[in-house]
Amino acid sequence: MNLPFEIFRDPRAMRVMAEGLRRDGRRIAVVPTMGALHEGHLALLRAARGQADVVILTIFVNPTQFGPNEDLGKYPRDEAGDLEKAQRAGIDLAFCPEPAAMYLPGAQTFVEVRELSQPLCGASRPGHFAGVATVVAKLFHITQPHVAVFGEKDYQQLAIIRRMARDLDFAVEIASVPIVREPDGLAMSSRNTYLSPEQRLAARSLSAGLAAAEHAFAGGERRAAALIAAARAPIEAAAETRIDYAELRDAEELTALAHVERPAVLALAVFVGTTRLIDNRVLG
Ligand code: PAJ
Repeated sequence: MNLPFEIFRDPRAMRVMAEGLRRDGRRIAVVPTMGALHEGHLALLRAARGQADVVILTIFVNPTQFGPNEDLGKYPRDEAGDLEKAQRAGIDLAFCPEPAAMYLPGAQTFVEVRELSQPLCGASRPGHFAGVATVVAKLFHITQPHVAVFGEKDYQQLAIIRRMARDLDFAVEIASVPIVREPDGLAMSSRNTYLSPEQRLAARSLSAGLAAAEHAFAGGERRAAALIAAARAPIEAAAETRIDYAELRDAEELTALAHVERPAVLALAVFVGTTRLIDNRVLG
């Protein structure tokens, strides 16, 4: 739409703008990100473009979702480059706040999506999903979207956000976009830039593992242990890899499964060197 492109840093000014757009009958889509935009993020922006009159990109490296020994300090940042790419993908507005504007001194209110946050990444990253759910709830209040677009790459995150929106009566539709991959299968991620050339080769083993599990599934295998073993083999054979988890879980509730009888998600988190990568595939 013909809105002059504008960057907002102040949450209140962003919300006043969004409220005005809603009053004018505009349909708003938001795409929350932490920046360092790649083709995966751009696919979300394009999906948002197709579903709304006004697309708002948010860029915020959210400190509350990083653990004390994680990569908050070195997380890649390139706001100017991001805004250029995003404008080419057709965004109308950007919201890029400073941490101090998002978390006032004495902030102590968090959103917790209990059971869905326990397994998988929640087990290895305590507090991570409370940080994610809280910042996404705040971004929804600030940008007032009719629809919000997330990637299926962060499968557990998507499940948690859907549940939060349902449980807390957010009037926002949660839309999702399939995983965007490099030509060799590696799921695109801002963290891929941390990989050395050797590690980048080894990182192929995640999608290779998922493909092996899917092949076994297509051949009739339904035992979780066998499907997981198929996924682990190429990863364990690759250099510098350490599996954080490789699990098969119910696609909706993320509960553990021994057999696949309804849709299940095979979810992986693997350290390649010191870089932690995730990937997943839904079976059935
Ligand atoms: P970030 O990692 O920047 O990802 C922003 C969005 O892009 C998420 O919805 C994520 O699932 C999606 N995405 C990333 N890589 C993708 C890929 N290869 N294919 C498809 N979608 C992909 O996820 C976060 O930021 C944060 O946790 C956030 C939701 C912004 C809250 O801080």
